[in-house]
Amino acid sequence: MKVLGIMGSPRVKGKCSRLLDKALEGAESAGAEINNIKLIKKNIKYCMDCANCWSKNHELTIGKCPLKDDMADILEEYINSDGYIYASPVYDMYVTALMKTFLERKIALTFRNMNDHAKLPESRHPENFLKKASIIITGNCGDEFVEVMGDPCFEACEAHLMIEQIDTVDRMYAGGVESYTEAAFETRLKQAFDCGVRLVEAIRQARA
Ligand SMILES: Cc1cc2nc3c(=O)[nH]c(=O)nc-3n(C[C@H](O)[C@H](O)[C@H](O)COP(=O)(O)O)c2cc1C
Repeated sequence: MKVLGIMGSPRVKGKCSRLLDKALEGAESAGAEINNIKLIKKNIKYCMDCANCWSKNHELTIGKCPLKDDMADILEEYINSDGYIYASPVYDMYVTALMKTFLERKIALTFRNMNDHAKLPESRHPENFLKKASIIITGNCGDEFVEVMGDPCFEACEAHLMIEQIDTVDRMYAGGVESYTEAAFETRLKQAFDCGVRLVEAIRQARA
């Protein structure tokens, strides 16, 4: 089983990154093979809405995009994974531009026959999904702001997941992240580790 981390913070040694590393460590301890894509290290161009990827070649799993960058390889890695841990800091009450750019380009996975757009066949109900995701969001605003700061970010990450047939296991909001003591951060790291373990267990359970 493969679990893929998608790191949306520009700070590769920041709190968000450390939480994701810990969650992946948890997934690995539960038996998963892990990989971590740090978006800041990749060349990911903006979606130009040419519609090529979702309106043509419906037999393909990944729609063809005319942009030449790292996204084709990333999407290949993405569809070959069984579990996902998305991680992003909140920037201006939303995911980072880095994460949003990646999410938009993921439309290449969601193209479908136009007549199917409004339908939700039996296999597309979350309880039947064989792939799972967890989401880690960090913000300077405290935990009591989870609805204002965390929820828009969780929803941004989840925007395509229903169509990709991926269900969410954990939504973790780490608020007040810049003012943690090391001891308080340890508690969050433990929480992230447990998220990783739970993700693997949930995938196993779905496939049992
Ligand atoms: C441009 C910018 C906008 C931000 N906007 C918010 C915000 O709307 N709400 C919030 O709680 N924190 C906000 N923050 C704080 C970051 O979320 C926080 O520094 C980050 O989660 C720490 O993670 P990192 O160590 O990976 O950078 C913002 C930070 C930056 C740089």
